[in-house]
Amino acid sequence: DLCKSINGLDKVLLRESRGSSAEVYLYGGHVTSWKSDHGEELLFLSSKAIFKPPKAIRGGIPICFPQFGGLGTLDQHGFARNRFWNIDDDPPPFPTNTLSKAFVDLILKPSEEDMKSWPHSFEYRLRIALGPGGDLMLTSRIRNTNSDGKPFSFTFAYHTYFSVSDISEVRVEGLETLDYLDNLQNKERFTEQGDALTFESEVDKIYLSTPTKIAIIDHEKKRTFVVRKDGLPDAVVWNPWDKKAKAMADFGDDEYKHMLCVEAAAIEKPITLKPGEEWKGRLELSAVPSSYCSGQ
Ligand code: BG6
Repeated sequence: DLCKSINGLDKVLLRESRGSSAEVYLYGGHVTSWKSDHGEELLFLSSKAIFKPPKAIRGGIPICFPQFGGLGTLDQHGFARNRFWNIDDDPPPFPTNTLSKAFVDLILKPSEEDMKSWPHSFEYRLRIALGPGGDLMLTSRIRNTNSDGKPFSFTFAYHTYFSVSDISEVRVEGLETLDYLDNLQNKERFTEQGDALTFESEVDKIYLSTPTKIAIIDHEKKRTFVVRKDGLPDAVVWNPWDKKAKAMADFGDDEYKHMLCVEAAAIEKPITLKPGEEWKGRLELSAVPSSYCSGQ
């Protein structure tokens, strides 16, 4: 269903027959809510989120494209997260997600203004779907539609904000022993130690060449989020902690305790597409009782 939010922005509600649901804003192509079949919210959305362009919505799943971070020529995290996307009524067939009936297809094409800052023509198709078990699946397909014969390169992230009961009780498995770039230390490269990650201060790291599966274990909630990804070799782990939280106008001072960003991404090696070529990047999130995951 397409409806207006209290902020006057268009949003789409997805509902799966067993009760899980998701909410997608056309502004940003942004998932702001994902609820289990018990109605429990699984994503973090700041109580101070500003639903007003050009500010990106703080929480949920912002799309970072065509640039992750602030190092390129574009604004931090690119422009896809603060553009109005359209519903794509006639998308070319998606090979995946065929089991799902609860889905929406969105499309973003650059405006003339966008092409001044990033001079490339593209079609970005985003399918957001709920699986029969309540899994949330995002599939991005980005095509180079340049008519000048020129390739383009981009970096990308699904900037997912997970809701957690207490950050100090959270463990992340799947990133041990990997190399990472530390955004807090001039992007210097380090190697992670052998233990699952735990959190006691600000963290902003880009893990490189990560496995396709990462688990976020919330001890207090006895819940594990399983992140599965395809086409997205890197994974960003971010929590602003107290000082940075206070510095963000659209984030509550104590909210860092209740969120963790684990972002499926392609950053270290930008994706390059020749005209006519298409890239696909897929994210699949599930939330399961922790006991199911013991030993994984
Ligand atoms: C993370 C980055 O992905 O996003 C951080 O690694 C950044 O460096 C954070 O602070 C939030 O970015 P923004 O632009 O949404 O405030």
